[in-house]
Amino acid sequence: MSFLVAPSLLSSDFSQLGKEVKALEQAGADWIHWDIMDSHFVPNLTFGPPVLKALRSFSLLPFDVHLMVEKPEKLILPFAKAGANSITFHVEACSKPIDLINKIKSSNLKAGLSVKPNTPIDKVFPFLENLDIVLIMTVEPGAGGQVFLKEQAKKVSLLKNKLNSLKSSILIEVDGGITPETAKQVPQADILVAGNYIFKSGSYSDNISQLRNCI
Ligand code: DX5
Ligand code: ZN
Repeated sequence: MSFLVAPSLLSSDFSQLGKEVKALEQAGADWIHWDIMDSHFVPNLTFGPPVLKALRSFSLLPFDVHLMVEKPEKLILPFAKAGANSITFHVEACSKPIDLINKIKSSNLKAGLSVKPNTPIDKVFPFLENLDIVLIMTVEPGAGGQVFLKEQAKKVSLLKNKLNSLKSSILIEVDGGITPETAKQVPQADILVAGNYIFKSGSYSDNISQLRNCI
């Protein structure tokens, strides 16, 4: 089995985002992962819809938006209009996730729900029949280059067992501290988000294929 690989632009060279997105596509990335931070839900502040819109024509790859924001409901339509293909928001940032899931899907995008390390995985269980993606954070959201939290790995197997019982094809995405070594601890994940490992050194294509084929 091999993973899908979604490089996170959080660790890319912000001064040449267009070149980076093109290079990632040429290097064999499956998705481009956009870590959107609002300096409220997490201390960091990153990109908005205008930046994604500016990069849309640089790649045909799916733009996978990860909203680490306090008010995700305000950003669904702007990112949909800007050219996102999937939008994932945090269960901790929303009182009625089903409303946002429906809003994302009515914009013809894939809908994802994410959990922080301290949030039990069963918080997403009530929404599984409406979701396309579940994003399990394997670090505390807010920054790249952190160490993988190995106790989060059990959430992947708990979720996979639940999805198997429902015969669900929801994609399990993991995000944070992902390397070929840590990815081996989450063999039932479908998509690996990686920033530091892909951008830190070496060629993007080698790093992506190392991740893809590490099991
Ligand atoms: C955390 C971010 C990071 C990023 C990946 O808020 O979501 O997890 O995508 O960063 P690395 O791969 O550098 O841990
Ligand atoms: Zn992310």
